[in-house]
Amino acid sequence: MLPKCVKVPRQPDGNTATPRGTIAYYCAPWSASGDPWALSKCSHIGEDSLKLHFNIHQVPAPTILVPAMPSANATLTPPDFDEAFRLQLNALFRWRRDVRRFRRKALPENLLEALLKAASLAPSVGLSQPWRFVLVEGAPRRAAVRKNFEQENRAALDNYHGNDAKLYAKLKLEGLSEAPVHLAVFCDAETGRGKGLGSRTMPETLRYSVVAAVQNLWLAARSHAVGVGWVSILDPEAVRRDLDLPEAWDLVAYLCLGYPQEEHIDPELERLQWEKREDYRANLLLR
Ligand SMILES: Cc1cc2nc3c(=O)[nH]c(=O)nc-3n(C[C@H](O)[C@H](O)[C@H](O)COP(=O)(O)O)c2cc1C
Repeated sequence: MLPKCVKVPRQPDGNTATPRGTIAYYCAPWSASGDPWALSKCSHIGEDSLKLHFNIHQVPAPTILVPAMPSANATLTPPDFDEAFRLQLNALFRWRRDVRRFRRKALPENLLEALLKAASLAPSVGLSQPWRFVLVEGAPRRAAVRKNFEQENRAALDNYHGNDAKLYAKLKLEGLSEAPVHLAVFCDAETGRGKGLGSRTMPETLRYSVVAAVQNLWLAARSHAVGVGWVSILDPEAVRRDLDLPEAWDLVAYLCLGYPQEEHIDPELERLQWEKREDYRANLLLR
């Protein structure tokens, strides 16, 4: 069934936008009578556009692309995710990698914004959206993070012995120097949003929500051939201080973003024999 339709005045560019809770009902610019066309189908294209299919006097008319207001999604026909899409999605999961070797090429303008939009569509406990994204651009701040990593990495090495220590010393565990984008992702533990729903009993769910946002961003980035590297060998409190952020913000992820120098279908830590990836069955229990 079609959602409620309203007539929307045509914009000078021939497009129209869907107001909240409704779907556009397009007044054909070239219809002499000014009769609105009947909407036969509406699908969502990407994030910001609707594809509207019309009939005029039962005859299919050309499809029209219009900008969608985000709130219009609620009444749209959901996309028809077909087998081809599922195969692509599976390829995206398989080809997502943690990247530590970046080309210095900058990301296209607006891509970061698209990635942050994707991240912000993540689920969050009580709809608290506790993620706080901090773009780290200043050279002194980046240098402080790099120094933090070097200290913590030396301390981490001291915890390994024998072959593990030899192997650990050879691993490249960050791409801080080359990555064109540094994005620190924090959890605001004191957010009032969500009114404590779910997080009153399990406060850690605020941080889990931030991880969900990071995963969205990671996959969205990969879909644009952009690599993400998660750096956690850091003193998180020092990062927060160095970036001059509120005490209630906990560092969840320090991310490097950029175009990868190499593409791999297997994790680097597996290739270098640090650890093996397990089949899901190894972690499935029945009770
Ligand atoms: C929470 C988290 C923290 C991570 N921290 C680091 C890190 O400090 N350095 C690093 O090289 N990789 C880090 N990684 C990446 C993992 O090593 C990587 O995900 C794993 O080896 C599997 O490889 P893949 O992501 O390419 O599938 C982290 C990943 C996660 C999810």
